[in-house]
Amino acid sequence: PASAGAGAALAGRHVLVTAGPTHEPIDPVRFIANRSSGKQGYALAAAAVAAGARVTLVSGPVTLPAPAGVSLVRVETAREMLEAVRRALPADIAIFTAAVADWRVAEAGAQKLKKGPDGAPRLALVENPDILATIAGDLAHRPALVIGFAAETEKVVEHAKAKLARKGCDLIVANDVSAESGVMGGDRNRVHLVSRDGVESWSEMGKAAVAHALIARAATMLAPR
Ligand code: CTP
Ligand code: CA
Repeated sequence: PASAGAGAALAGRHVLVTAGPTHEPIDPVRFIANRSSGKQGYALAAAAVAAGARVTLVSGPVTLPAPAGVSLVRVETAREMLEAVRRALPADIAIFTAAVADWRVAEAGAQKLKKGPDGAPRLALVENPDILATIAGDLAHRPALVIGFAAETEKVVEHAKAKLARKGCDLIVANDVSAESGVMGGDRNRVHLVSRDGVESWSEMGKAAVAHALIARAATMLAPR
């Protein structure tokens, strides 16, 4: 109802957001990681709170403070992130912004690897679970609206269309993370919304503005109760 005001578009809804990188151990002192800052995910969590939602933010290691009003669950690895997401369900909307490490070391060392006469160690990698695809495909627990992000350095929209189909989500928010774009770690973002209805390209905005616009769109897409 109009009287509810703009701040109540998601009142009574639970929004789950994943954010940040994951860290995959090589040994007790080393890990595989990536350049994700978590900024876009944290901004989305804050925007969802502003829209009146209850918000769970499952975050890999970042240096950002917890947004006010958010229930923050800190994790390190992809497998921990999947577990935390499962525990946080049910949710009405799930937004997967995390830059989950695609691979982990098959058997992380129990002790610090040491240099020796045999030269550099060979790290055998195995694929991590795809958290977004797992949750989107779990029909008994699937949130009504599942939104993925796609970080691409080339053929941004083409790759995003393939991901939409492959992962079974309702919307892919694609962004260009090539070094020239300055998106990774930066404060601005230029996104393309890829859904079964087509592609909508937004002009460049600050990450907070992108977050508010995306939350408004998500509220619209969510079927009314
Ligand atoms: N994602 C996830 N779990 C993974 C990998 C990705 O939940 N193990 C999610 C991301 O949070 C994002 C979406 O899937 O919402 C797309 O991530 P991206 O890395 O762009 O896609 P991948 O399928 O990993 O493909 P690639 O990295 O090869 O482009
Ligand atoms: Ca990936």
